[in-house]
Amino acid sequence: MPELSSLLREPRHVLLETATPLQRLRRFEAKLGRPGIYAKRDDLMLIALGGNKLRSLEYWLGAALEKGADILLVGGGASSNLCRLTAAAASLVGLDCVVLHNAPDTPENRQASFLNRLFGAELRFLGSVDESQRNAALAEAAVDLARQGRTPYIVGDSVLGAMGYVRAALELHEQSQQQEAPIRHVFLAGSMGPTEAGFIFGNALLGHPFQIHLVSVEYERDELAGHVGRIYEGLRERTGLDVAAWEQAPPHYHMDHLGGGWGVPTPASEAAILSFARTEGILIEHVYTAKTCAGFLEQLANGGIPSSEPACVLHTGGTAALFSQFGLFRTLS
Ligand SMILES: Cc1ncc(COP(=O)(O)O)c(C=O)c1O
Repeated sequence: MPELSSLLREPRHVLLETATPLQRLRRFEAKLGRPGIYAKRDDLMLIALGGNKLRSLEYWLGAALEKGADILLVGGGASSNLCRLTAAAASLVGLDCVVLHNAPDTPENRQASFLNRLFGAELRFLGSVDESQRNAALAEAAVDLARQGRTPYIVGDSVLGAMGYVRAALELHEQSQQQEAPIRHVFLAGSMGPTEAGFIFGNALLGHPFQIHLVSVEYERDELAGHVGRIYEGLRERTGLDVAAWEQAPPHYHMDHLGGGWGVPTPASEAAILSFARTEGILIEHVYTAKTCAGFLEQLANGGIPSSEPACVLHTGGTAALFSQFGLFRTLS
C-alpha cells in the first residue's frame, strides 16, 4: 500500500489484512473479443462474506474503540449489508451490537436479517419508517443506552466511512502496477456516496490514474452528484489534504440502468447476473452490483470503452442478499 494511505490520520482498526483480489475476467475477454477486463473482488473478504462496508468499518471501529464504546448501533433494511457486516465486526472486537431495522417485524424480514442474530446482535424492528425516522430512533437508542451507563457508538458517519475507499483506490492502483494491468476505467455503483467519494478522492490523491464511472442504482444524476460531492468535500476538509476540488474531478455518470429505481431489477441487470454467473462463476445481486455490472458490460460491448483501455468493475459484495432475491428473477423459476 503506498505511503499515501498514512496521510489518513483517523484511527483504523484493521479488518482486512490483505488486498482483495484483482481478477482478470478472461472468459468475458474471449466472449467480448477484447482484452483488459478486470474485477476488483471486494466481495471476497474473510469476514461475513465481505463487501464494501468492511472497509468503512475499519474506520468506524477505529473511532468507536478510541471513544471507549462498548456497544455499536446501526440502522438499515432487513437485508442491509451494512447491518450484517457491523454485527459481524462488533462480535470480532467484543462489542455488543443493536440493529434497528426500518422494516416491519415479519417472518420474511426476520429471515432476511437472521445473519445479524447469528453474529449475536440484538434486533429491533421499527416498522415501515423512513430514513430520518430511523436516524432519530438510533439517536434515541444511544441516549437510552448512555443513561444505562453504556458507551454507544452509532455506525454510519459517511465521511469517515469513505476513508476506507480512499485506501481501496490506492490498493487497486498498486495492484494494477504489480500485475501489469494498466487499468484506465473503474466502474462503481452510484448510491449513497461514501464508496464513490472515497474512491474518487483516492484517485485524485494519486493524480487521476483512473477514469471513474458511476452507474446509478438509486438516484437521479443531480442527487447522486450532490451526495458524492458533499462527502468528497467532507474528505478534503477532514483530511486537510491538498486534493483537487470536487468540480475538478468529475466522474462519468451512467443513468441508463436505474430503471424503476433502487432494488427494482431491469432486464439488463437480470441478464448481467446470469452472464456473470455463467461466464465467470461470479455471484452478483440485484440491488447494487447487477446494475453496475450491466453498465460495465454495456460500455465494453458498445465501444464506450475503447478496447485499448483496460477496465475494471468494483464488486462491492452484497452477495448474502442474493439468497432472498429469488422472487426478483423473471427468467428463472
Ligand atoms: C453491496 C453494496 N454495494 C454498493 C453499495 C453502495 O455503497 P455506498 O452507500 O457507499 O454508495 C452498498 C450500500 O449499502 C452495498 O451494500
